[in-house]
Amino acid sequence: MARRLKMAAIGGGVIGGGWIARFLLTGNDVAVFDPYPEAKRIIGDVVAGADRAYRLLFDQPLPARGALTFHDRIEDAVAGADYIQESVPETLEIKHKVLGAIADSAPAQALIGSSTSGFTPSALHGGLSKPGRVFVAHPFNPVYLLPLAELVAGPANDLGVLDEAEALLASVGMKGLKIRAEIDAHIADRLLEAVWREGLWLVNDGIATTGEIDDAIRFGFGLRWAQMGLFETYRIAGGEAGMTHFIKQFGPALKWPWTKLMDVPDQSDAQSGMHDLRTLERIRDDNLVGFLRVLQQNNWGAGKCVADMARTLRDATAEQGGGEAVRDGYPLRLHAATVPESWLDYNGHMTEHRYLQVMGDATDAFLAHIGMDEPYRAAGRSVYTVETHIRHLDEVDGGAWLNVETLLLGADTKRLRLLHRILDGDRLVATGEHMLMHVDTEAGRSSPFGAPLTGRIAAIAALHAPQPLPAEAGSVIRALPREPES
Ligand SMILES: NC(=O)c1ccc[n+]([C@@H]2O[C@H](COP(=O)([O-])OP(=O)(O)OC[C@H]3O[C@@H](n4cnc5c(N)ncnc54)[C@H](O)[C@@H]3O)[C@@H](O)[C@H]2O)c1
Repeated sequence: MARRLKMAAIGGGVIGGGWIARFLLTGNDVAVFDPYPEAKRIIGDVVAGADRAYRLLFDQPLPARGALTFHDRIEDAVAGADYIQESVPETLEIKHKVLGAIADSAPAQALIGSSTSGFTPSALHGGLSKPGRVFVAHPFNPVYLLPLAELVAGPANDLGVLDEAEALLASVGMKGLKIRAEIDAHIADRLLEAVWREGLWLVNDGIATTGEIDDAIRFGFGLRWAQMGLFETYRIAGGEAGMTHFIKQFGPALKWPWTKLMDVPDQSDAQSGMHDLRTLERIRDDNLVGFLRVLQQNNWGAGKCVADMARTLRDATAEQGGGEAVRDGYPLRLHAATVPESWLDYNGHMTEHRYLQVMGDATDAFLAHIGMDEPYRAAGRSVYTVETHIRHLDEVDGGAWLNVETLLLGADTKRLRLLHRILDGDRLVATGEHMLMHVDTEAGRSSPFGAPLTGRIAAIAALHAPQPLPAEAGSVIRALPREPES
């Protein structure tokens, strides 16, 4: 993984707290400046919520947290920082004061992002003596789960500053979207504002309640938007003729008096509910985690960021020794996993099929290790599991960190015999023996391994074959009388 970074957060409220949580939980150090006396507690609550969400999102250990420090002066917080995120209240006067102090005392190469929802970079730059490294990095709440940061620069910015920011934010699992031109409220909030304004008008005109409007979104198009956005969704809606047909069909409607893009009525949209704020945040996070997991499985949209982040976290934990990888030895250690709450059964222990999931993931890690990648599979070659024997040896609690040891017990031109041992600390909790078959997926038949797998299997076999076969190899289910003896 990239080296451990030093981040600074100036302002640690709702948004600053979310940035802090993302930075810390990806293993980076964070120095905070926020004069509010309750800031420490609020940040602690946000980090705890984020930690819970990450344990549900990632089936693997998280790296050791970075160090969190609090400082009384901006100069102290930004000293030595690689990246500084400003998240103070949305007032131009405060932004100028704070960004001026940051830019004047930050290291020359530090990146300085502002969370501003509305101000353009040029508006932020007004009055700054060193505006070159200060740009907009507008995130979305909760920052620790939603990957998007809109990145915007102005004429006073150093060339390439957004490219640097994009690369650095990718290392903490974020998608930096570079915006082509600076406008008030960037892209996403402009879109949201249009929807919000229509919502307020519908309430104002007595057409719908706030609850009905929320239902119209969450039971319908809101679900589509999370995975395909606006234009790709409409492309599909146009059927085989695509967008052309869609515009022909619905385009004229845009001229009808459906929309009322005018002043926002002054009306409270407070929607009473039976949940308090903390409960709502937890429900929101659980739902987002579920969506992100599906998108990750499908390697689609925001799920790609989660997949990249999972890889970065895995490398970080390996480097930190938590689940230290052994890529070239006996036994191999290629896979580690944490046990989320959702994996527990009614006894409060890891449920049966998750043992197989951990072993299946360890097999995938082994196959990736010997070179089975996307191009290899795209050429019509793959490996199928044809036989498995698992022994469940001990209970596993929620939150446990599991490491898997993998032994190559045997191989021929088409088959591999693997043994996985799942360890919880020093405790052996399960073993699994698996026969894998190399296949020609188009012909639907077994076939010999191809390069580079052949060479890598031979290299591992040269290390593993001289070792005696472990006692558990070849174990079978013990015979019992066919009927209980009376
Ligand atoms: N809330 C959102 O949904 C959201 C989303 C994206 C971006 N933003 C932007 O993020 C920024 C912060 O918004 P928020 O919702 O976190 O507000 P907030 O009120 O929750 O937090 C602001 C924090 O800044 C601190 N602060 C005040 N003056 C300060 C100073 N001089 N130096 C350092 N800290 C100071 C406050 O103590 C507070 O903790 C705003 O620019 C906002 O537009 C908000």
